[in-house]
Amino acid sequence: MISLKLDTPISLRVKPKIIQKPKPVSLSLKRRIIRKVKKILSIKKDAVVPIAQDTTLYINEYFNNSHFNENVYINSYYGGGIIEIGENCLIMGGFNIEGPNGKIKIGTSTFIGGNTQLNSMNSISIGNNVLIAANCVIQDHNSHSTNYLERRNDINLTIRRFLGNPAKDKNFDIIANKSIVIEDDVWIGMGVYILKGVTIGARSIIGAGSVVTKDVPSDTIYAGNPASFVKKLK
Ligand SMILES: CC(C)(COP(=O)(O)OP(=O)(O)OC[C@H]1O[C@@H](n2cnc3c(N)ncnc32)[C@H](O)[C@@H]1OP(=O)(O)O)[C@@H](O)C(=O)NCCC(=O)NCCS
Repeated sequence: MISLKLDTPISLRVKPKIIQKPKPVSLSLKRRIIRKVKKILSIKKDAVVPIAQDTTLYINEYFNNSHFNENVYINSYYGGGIIEIGENCLIMGGFNIEGPNGKIKIGTSTFIGGNTQLNSMNSISIGNNVLIAANCVIQDHNSHSTNYLERRNDINLTIRRFLGNPAKDKNFDIIANKSIVIEDDVWIGMGVYILKGVTIGARSIIGAGSVVTKDVPSDTIYAGNPASFVKKLK
């Protein structure tokens, strides 16, 4: 199990090809890495530098038996959060940590498809041997308040962030959030949205295009919007 502690706001686009073993590093690449690490350290000297923030080399080294394709990204917009990924995973989606307490945990031998987003300000826990197709969103919070006046501030913050000014003053207390648990051997079809507070029981299947708003028991197929019971798996 590797673990990223994201103590500074980061925006990382991981560039590795699927690589089985770390490749020998050329001298010039080493120099580039050292320069980049120095640059990061000079931004905030007392910061714990997230292990995945800087280089492809680190990714390969620490994410030993798990693989990442070139579109993987990790954003920690406000600083904080933890990402844990077990061995032998293939990750093709991206991670967005919102707020200081976001946590994303993935077990072993799990697949996350392309363009799938894991968005956490609370906790998203994904088990072993889970298959998550492309274009899904798993988000343990609403992103904004249901009160329109409170949402106005969020729009301004989003614009500031877009313009490169990391905004620390988002009020997370007004955003509804609840942890998500996806148990072992679950299969989530393409284009599924999983909303806050949902637990999907072991070995269950979620049909393509579903919006899951409530718990799904083990060994069942659920589908639709909102997702509902389709059949029991034998
Ligand atoms: C619409 C929404 C904001 C409402 O949040 P909320 O006020 O906290 O609502 P709740 O989670 O309490 O859900 C209320 C009911 O609506 C249902 N529901 C919620 N979202 C739903 C959806 N997208 N589709 C169908 N039903 C939905 C819930 O199952 C619940 O049903 P119940 O009354 O039978 O128990 C939220 O459900 C949602 O869609 N969040 C995602 C927001 C988003 O897309 N953010 C991305 C970035 S802007």
